[in-house]
Amino acid sequence: MFKFLTHPAPTAADERAKRLIDPGFGRVFTDHMATIRWTEADGWHDAQIGPRQPFQIDPAASVLHYAQEIFEGMKAYRSGNGVTLFRPLENAARFARSAERLAMPVLPDDLFIGAIEALVRTEIDWIPEQEGSSLYLRPFMFANEAFLGVRAATEYMFCVIASPASAYFKGGAKPVKLWVSDDYTRAAPGGTGAAKCGGNYASSLVAQQQAVAKGCDQVVFLDAAEHRWVEELGGMNMFFVFDDGTLRTPPLGTILPGITRASILTLARDRGMTVEEAPYDIDSWKADAASGRLTEAFACGTAAVVAAVGEIRWTGGEQAVGGGVEGPVTTSLRAELTGIQRGERPDPHGWNHTVTLG
Ligand code: PLP
Ligand code: COI
Repeated sequence: MFKFLTHPAPTAADERAKRLIDPGFGRVFTDHMATIRWTEADGWHDAQIGPRQPFQIDPAASVLHYAQEIFEGMKAYRSGNGVTLFRPLENAARFARSAERLAMPVLPDDLFIGAIEALVRTEIDWIPEQEGSSLYLRPFMFANEAFLGVRAATEYMFCVIASPASAYFKGGAKPVKLWVSDDYTRAAPGGTGAAKCGGNYASSLVAQQQAVAKGCDQVVFLDAAEHRWVEELGGMNMFFVFDDGTLRTPPLGTILPGITRASILTLARDRGMTVEEAPYDIDSWKADAASGRLTEAFACGTAAVVAAVGEIRWTGGEQAVGGGVEGPVTTSLRAELTGIQRGERPDPHGWNHTVTLG
């Protein structure tokens, strides 16, 4: 199905080994990429695995002007002798929903999974082995018709690149600090909050800069209508643990429906925890963290996995959460999730997808 174009000068094994020692997040890239084109006339065609190289893109390409672009984030893990993907059909389904929201053509699941598998097979030597590491996969699609009228484009490029990854946050497993944005919101009812489109991230960057200026790692976005309800972070969903054992996460709607979020909800329900997908307001978060009713808070996502929140800051105040240290529920949910992903724990829901190797 995928035509293979030989790389003229792939990275030498010793250089690759050096880059895999501590790749961090999003800086190291493998040698190849998968591409598939779509045009109104021919539909999906020209599926290839070839050298990772710059695109030739017309300066009038619609993505450069109107940001018609979507993406996904997923990981391939070493697991025993094999390689697994975690719930890749969920990424394919979300990618399809994002495409529909951005008026883009829907890539069939078998092509989405086929591209991921073909690239992972090609780049198998780039999957880091260390605990906490994986090969991060970034499928994305953009409009590349040269046309300046504002309408859905008639030509698109789908691509997958791969990037060996270790911890997302520089501090590793240290609890993160969050900045509560009081002047920016991420999504509004009827907007694109539930889609994974580049524009959502572009509009979050100035708030993220403020967070960094305040000594924080990520932004907490509140809802656009009342500016009161906790939605999510710039790139992660939020969970709260209360002293009566309840686990709460904001409901779906304007937030990104995280696959990590859905998996944690299932794992917590499996344990018999009381789980609520219910709104939580920022004043309650501050008060509950101060009183000790809120015992833990954590952020989760593919890139960040599960990250304890140690503190929140806002204009004129700050409050430690869970005494500033990671709590036991956070630790054990992370251990269970990553244990399943690495093939070290039973996978009762059949979440792991084995990549068949050559
Ligand atoms: N929310 C946002 C805004 C994100 O960018 C991400 C990351 O993909 C998530 C939540 C978590 O989603 P997932 O668990 O599917 O990676
Ligand atoms: C992911 O977790 O895959 C994302 O896309 C979020 C981003 C912070 C890298």
